[in-house]
Amino acid sequence: MKIAVLPGDGIGTEIVAEAVRVLEVLDLKFEMESALVGGAAYEAHGHPLPESTLKLAKESDAVLFGAVGDWKYDKLDRPLRPEQAILGLRKNLGLFANFRPAICYEQLVGASSLKPELIAGLDILIIRELTGDIYFGQPRGRRTAVDGHFPGAEEAFDTMRYSRPEVERIARVAFEAARKRSKRVTSVDKANVLETFQFWKDIVTEVGKEYPDVELDHMYVDNAAMQLVKAPKKFDVVVTGNMFGDILSDEAAMLTGSIGMLPSASLNASNQGLYEPSHGSAPDIAGKGVANPLATILSAAMMLRFSLNQPEAADRIESAVKHVLASGLRTGDIWSEGTKRVGTREMGDAVVAAITKKTITG
Ligand code: IPM
Ligand code: MG
Repeated sequence: MKIAVLPGDGIGTEIVAEAVRVLEVLDLKFEMESALVGGAAYEAHGHPLPESTLKLAKESDAVLFGAVGDWKYDKLDRPLRPEQAILGLRKNLGLFANFRPAICYEQLVGASSLKPELIAGLDILIIRELTGDIYFGQPRGRRTAVDGHFPGAEEAFDTMRYSRPEVERIARVAFEAARKRSKRVTSVDKANVLETFQFWKDIVTEVGKEYPDVELDHMYVDNAAMQLVKAPKKFDVVVTGNMFGDILSDEAAMLTGSIGMLPSASLNASNQGLYEPSHGSAPDIAGKGVANPLATILSAAMMLRFSLNQPEAADRIESAVKHVLASGLRTGDIWSEGTKRVGTREMGDAVVAAITKKTITG
């Protein structure tokens, strides 16, 4: 088994280092190899996803990814921006199924901007289609308008599209996931306006007939955004397209008050996966040793479970994280009165200690 370790930019290097230490202490048989990605790769090789990094990712069973991006690259041509690395990995590895759990940890209820009763016990799973939609649809570009409100004016355009097999396979992923949870799927669309999403809705409904034990409902994306803050616990599995999933998964993550705690997985048809925290590269706190490494550590646990077939090792990591939270240690993002503020390294130390069952300090 081989893991490609791609820390990336900003806090990526600090948080991935902690996840790697946690993986090492488990004493499992796998090889880890690191490579540059994002802005760091652009600086060194002139491209955010160099051939060598892509090759390593392709030949690995799983990719442990930190985060990419920094405002200083905003002026680069789009193909050279750090974000293209993650889009390129998704596309080249065919990582079409993105799992973004939004879980509210019992000890962190107070960190949410919503009332505690709305989010205590929250456990929803957003399944975002990741290789289609307006993100990858062709054609796209700039041209002179020939029609519309301003013929002759400069315009830009993108193409929203989904093919039947793309919708069928993500729908199946959602129904299968729901079978292992509360057996409810909400498919989010904009069928009232967009042809692509009427098609989406029709196909999800068809696939749903193969899963009579799973309850399916449909919701327009604007309403879904509203319901997520009004009554988030009503959701179980939410399945949606690439763009709506991008937006709703950030909203759902923030509800929990602990975006620094949320892992994510992006899988292809052969369970090869890319695992990354749900948060970004946070250039404002990079290098200060204060970032929360738990989302990345929990992403490593997801990796062990989904791609490396090591469910017990995944359980060990997850229990260690719960233990550390229960012991009162908190990084700045989840700190509250009465808990102990620690940095990235100390948090990693505590998880390692909990795994090796040494005493936890603090
Ligand atoms: C995400 C990010 C990416 C996306 C960016 C960095 C391209 O926002 O993973 O949600 O839009 O998919
Ligand atoms: Mg996003």
